[in-house]
Amino acid sequence: MTALERRFPRPKDIAPLLKMKPRQKDATARRLANAHTIWDLRDIARRRTPSGPFDYTDGAADGEVGVSRAREAFEDLEFRPGVLRNVAEADTSTTVLGAPSALPFGMAPTGFTRMMHSAGERAVVAAAERAQIPYALSTVGTTSIEQVAECAPSARKWFQLYLWKDRALSRELVANAKAAGYEALLVTVDVPVNGNRLRDLRNGMTIPPQLTLKTFIDASYRWEWWLNFLTTEPYTFAFDKDGQGALTDLVSKLYDPTVTFEDLEWLREIWDGPILVKGIQTVQDAEDVMARGANGVIVSNHGGRQLDRAPVPLHLLPRVVDAVGDRGTVMLDTGIMNGGDIVAALALGADFALVGRAYLYGLMAGGEAGVTRAVEILSAEIERTMKLLGVTTVAELGPEHVRLMSRRGPVAVEL
Ligand SMILES: Cc1cc2nc3c(=O)[nH]c(=O)nc-3n(C[C@H](O)[C@H](O)[C@H](O)COP(=O)(O)O)c2cc1C
Repeated sequence: MTALERRFPRPKDIAPLLKMKPRQKDATARRLANAHTIWDLRDIARRRTPSGPFDYTDGAADGEVGVSRAREAFEDLEFRPGVLRNVAEADTSTTVLGAPSALPFGMAPTGFTRMMHSAGERAVVAAAERAQIPYALSTVGTTSIEQVAECAPSARKWFQLYLWKDRALSRELVANAKAAGYEALLVTVDVPVNGNRLRDLRNGMTIPPQLTLKTFIDASYRWEWWLNFLTTEPYTFAFDKDGQGALTDLVSKLYDPTVTFEDLEWLREIWDGPILVKGIQTVQDAEDVMARGANGVIVSNHGGRQLDRAPVPLHLLPRVVDAVGDRGTVMLDTGIMNGGDIVAALALGADFALVGRAYLYGLMAGGEAGVTRAVEILSAEIERTMKLLGVTTVAELGPEHVRLMSRRGPVAVEL
């Protein structure tokens, strides 16, 4: 064996190794810069957010099987790269609902966003505006339709609607969204009743959070969240901008189990912009809503927060894409934690993707800067995956780039 030739380290050799990186003064910026994946942002979010709001965001229904399977589907697929292409530049932009988006995904509608961080919807829409991607405001957003519009006048904005039998209220909301410049309605149809969120029940979660002994203890080490919460305006709701209703009354109005396809037809009569039906989980339902005038569907199981063990959106996607054909837009959400997931969905035929928790983890980790960090991470992952697959535009992505596989056996969707 050759012996190592040793010598005493010399100061002039060591000095260059000792160069300190300039320390980032802003603690939030420092934390965010150290997050390299959405999972990293989730870790920071968990440390900085009280367990009630964190679990409300992170959790899903019943055994949380739906969300794990959706994530597993992304993990299990196989990418098929093409080599020896010139991929020096890749363009991640696309066109969705007739207008450009700098990235092939947008911000999914999420309720009660100010509970994750007091900056709430304003922070998310501002980050979306900067990134030039669409933002969808939830009916149960904690910032009004008008406030969101004022905050980000040049952002592309969509409005998520829960259809109610109370047509006057639905009509008013839709009119407000139109007046404030929202381009499209995402009609969520997978909430006839609320899913069974066990973490929320176990945490005794209330909206807004109650000041109990437990929350006081929590506040001692998550003081920033509590300071923000106590020193900013109380929550009001996108659908109740005057803040007139007691929350329990409002929520009981929200989910209407009597809504049917006829209500969708009625909505088609009063809204002349695009309508996308969110929460489609069978090919037949995709066909039926398209036949009733929808402009597209969002294949989604609500992030696993409604019916647990519902179909895995990614597995269902190719069949829905076939069924919708060129009659409309197909989007996908649920389980996206990596830009590569978005690339896979596009390759399997989705026109666009939506992310929910991915940006909420960013929001909880660092307000608006955290949302921007989440977008940066996803964007870099999309670009890198495209280049590694050998494509330079979103339009080039096709089924030849992905093989659906599952650790549970063959992927066959009979729906
Ligand atoms: C905290 C939270 C609140 C949500 N609120 C709504 C809502 O008000 N309306 C709606 O249509 N979807 C809502 N969703 C579902 C999202 O729009 C989206 O379908 C889901 O988050 C996608 O899954 P992902 O979180 O794994 O990306 C919510 C999701 C989360 C995580």
